[in-house]
Amino acid sequence: MKIQHVLVTGGAGYIGSHLVDALVAREYRVTVLDNLEPQVHRSGTWPSYANPKARYVRGDVRDRSVFEPLVLDADAVVHFAAAVSVGQSMYQVDRYVGVNTGGTGLLLDILVNAKHRVQKVVVASSVGVYGEGAYRCPSCGPSFPGLRAADQLAARDWEPHCPACGRTTEPVATPEGKPLYRDNIYSMTKYHQEEMVLLIGKTYGIPAVAPRFFNVYGPRQSLSNPYAGVAAIFLSRLLNNHEPVVFEDGGQLRDFVSIHDVVDCLVLMLEQAGADFLPVNIGSGTRISILDIARTLGRLVGSQIEPKVLNQGRAFDIRHCVADISRAATTLGFQPKVSFEDGMTELIEWARSSPDGATDMFDKALDELRQKGLLVK
Ligand SMILES: NC(=O)c1ccc[n+]([C@@H]2O[C@H](COP(=O)([O-])OP(=O)(O)OC[C@H]3O[C@@H](n4cnc5c(N)ncnc54)[C@H](O)[C@@H]3O)[C@@H](O)[C@H]2O)c1
Ligand SMILES: [Zn+2]
Repeated sequence: MKIQHVLVTGGAGYIGSHLVDALVAREYRVTVLDNLEPQVHRSGTWPSYANPKARYVRGDVRDRSVFEPLVLDADAVVHFAAAVSVGQSMYQVDRYVGVNTGGTGLLLDILVNAKHRVQKVVVASSVGVYGEGAYRCPSCGPSFPGLRAADQLAARDWEPHCPACGRTTEPVATPEGKPLYRDNIYSMTKYHQEEMVLLIGKTYGIPAVAPRFFNVYGPRQSLSNPYAGVAAIFLSRLLNNHEPVVFEDGGQLRDFVSIHDVVDCLVLMLEQAGADFLPVNIGSGTRISILDIARTLGRLVGSQIEPKVLNQGRAFDIRHCVADISRAATTLGFQPKVSFEDGMTELIEWARSSPDGATDMFDKALDELRQKGLLVK
């Protein structure tokens, strides 16, 4: 049987809403389950971009009475509803574990115990499951350092050291097979979600796939949520005439992937079987430093404001992680198409015309980090 009806949890959010549009355009019937989490949806109403051809149900993924009937009515479930901030997860432990791990536990409990016709489950995992990315030590070869210790950060010695010989290591593209290190509660819950869904999928023969999103950027990403992605935070600082604040020396490497490329890959995951039962990186496969992101955004916005390099690290941050996207290429034929400059230009155009505006809440978030002792002195 062909998939006709897709349930998207978290479908009012940033990534989910773009997928909803793509699925509607491909003539799927789409139902969204979303509780309109106040930190994301400050108006408390469905966002203006909600797709009129999809059905929207307000409810919590921890509530069986609403989740179960929707799962039973669907041919595929895309499970994106989650609490999404790394920093915040370190002091709202109960909420993060409850929504992310708990909500996924409930979905699986429904799939195992109720009569359903779900043919595919796609669960949002994250680059966060890697901890530090993959490295290559000049003496030892492949090396997989863990999180840098507080005294290393306090000494402003930013580059990770090889666990075997102690030399500074070079970042390389991170494949799915890299040993996974979870260094914060959010990433732990993403790991649980992925492992649980793939395990139940294999055990009961329900095709399941776990996209590991790298840094997804594009229209509709929250500009006012200070716990959200770094590009949005920098942009909202610049649009409010404040300098973007860069932790460490700004040399941290990340993989920024356009929402449009992400949606293309998600559609392939739903429609094809090549990546079933696997975790799969979704990235651009290209590296960019945090300082370069701040500068590129400043240039594209036309701002004279220079980024502020804080020269202080956060206890939970990794130094580098860039995707090896060969698994998505070989199993699904995925190829990213949007360049960083084109994608950022689109993000800026959207931010300038966004009805919600960009409220800069960064200083409050920085204060919170200081108070919790997560900013290394
Ligand atoms: N944006 C990224 O770069 C990125 C990177 C890695 C992983 N992810 C994962 O992708 C998924 C989607 O992320 P996003 O960036 O679109 O986030 P988002 O916050 O924009 O969307 C999440 C949606 O889930 C909803 N939600 C939260 N708690 C809920 C609950 N208890 N019940 C029902 N709905 C709930 C929110 O209202 C929101 O609409 C998440 O699972 C996230 O962990 C995102
Ligand atoms: Zn070494």
